[in-house]
Amino acid sequence: MTYPLERVVYRSDAVAPAEGPIDLSAIFATSVRNNARSRLTGALALHDGVFVQVLEGEPAALSALMDMITADDRHRNVRVLARWPIQSQLFLGSAMVQTDTRSLSHYAAKVVVQTGSGAQVTGVLAELASARLTSLI
Ligand SMILES: Cc1cc2nc3c(=O)[nH]c(=O)nc-3n(C[C@H](O)[C@H](O)[C@H](O)COP(=O)(O)O)c2cc1C
Repeated sequence: MTYPLERVVYRSDAVAPAEGPIDLSAIFATSVRNNARSRLTGALALHDGVFVQVLEGEPAALSALMDMITADDRHRNVRVLARWPIQSQLFLGSAMVQTDTRSLSHYAAKVVVQTGSGAQVTGVLAELASARLTSLI
């Protein structure tokens, strides 16, 4: 049996706390715990003060999470680039991949933080995720 799946991609502006840098590990710990429970998968990048996240899974779970994320004061100005039905989860097996954007070319970084569509951002983050997962083998 198939059930509907969707992917959503957004960008937002990180809000750094007064006392120092953003605690990414706290965001990832929460994300991995909650997303695994809701069978959501995805990837998150922080580059030049901009968060970019791809989330995939069952539509109701995605919408509930997007409401939580949008209300989170660790970032602001959340803008959804795209949301569309998918056949299968690209980040299957990864509740939330922490991508390392330092290896990106200037062009690819610009696609991620500024110019890219939801589908383009998904492509770049999927590349980064597979590089990361391969390096762990
Ligand atoms: C950029 C960003 C991405 C986030 N991504 C997720 C996520 O994928 N899954 C998740 O559960 N929470 C995510 N959060 C945290 C949520 O906004 C919220 O704090 C969390 O879901 C609350 O979960 P809790 O009630 O278990 O603490 C993210 C927060 C930020 C700032």
